[in-house]
Amino acid sequence: MKLRIINTDDGSQTVYNTELEEQYHSVKGAITESNYVYIEKGYLFHKSENPTIFEVGFGTGLNCLLTAILAEKQKRHTTYFTIEKYPIDKKIIHQLKYGENISTEAQVIFKKIHACEWNSPNKISEYFTLIKLQADILKNDLKKVEESDIIYFDAFGPDKQPEMWQADILKKIYSITAANGIFLTYSAKGDVRRQLKKCGYEMKRLPGPPGKFHMLRGIKKV
Ligand SMILES: C[S@@+](CC[C@H](N)C(=O)[O-])C[C@H]1O[C@@H](n2cnc3c(N)ncnc32)[C@H](O)[C@@H]1O
Repeated sequence: MKLRIINTDDGSQTVYNTELEEQYHSVKGAITESNYVYIEKGYLFHKSENPTIFEVGFGTGLNCLLTAILAEKQKRHTTYFTIEKYPIDKKIIHQLKYGENISTEAQVIFKKIHACEWNSPNKISEYFTLIKLQADILKNDLKKVEESDIIYFDAFGPDKQPEMWQADILKKIYSITAANGIFLTYSAKGDVRRQLKKCGYEMKRLPGPPGKFHMLRGIKKV
């Protein structure tokens, strides 16, 4: 994988994959997008006191970091499962300034979420437990992932990696979504929305982060 760090419009960095010609976050603002799509419309929207989260695509760990910071602030015991097929090389991770951009506490958490072991539970802080699975979601049965209240679906775009957005993958994710659980993604493509609706989610198109008109949130109402 050929990766390089680029700056985005809010001053935060992201990683650019030169083979796919795709970046890990919006060029209009990496932290802004992550905060809006997954934290504001997801973690803060869901009212569980002890949420379990499943993220597709750990990448730089930015969604994970922002969630961990808030878990401590809100004193919500949070269990965070994330799956990643291609962990980013440590050299690139060390150049990312997410921790420094946020707070001293964030720096410590960022280091811990990257230093901890894959495929086993890690207590990162009092309120945040992380399970990073190094695996391919296309082949994994997700048996190691607990039923989740909040799904952060942060795959590369449907035009770049259509296989990640296939019906059978989305169905697999629906099956591990808890009752009243929510599914978030930055994509608002009509095909994606229809596919998620077919899985069983009640879908809503929400205003998007800077640079995007819309994003999607689904609720598993049972
Ligand atoms: C948009 S990036 C994720 C950004 C990440 N959430 C963050 O905060 O940095 C998509 C991620 O999906 C991962 N990925 C691609 N194919 C995958 C697969 N088959 N299974 C699991 N992860 C995959 C990529 O390596 C990449 O890290």
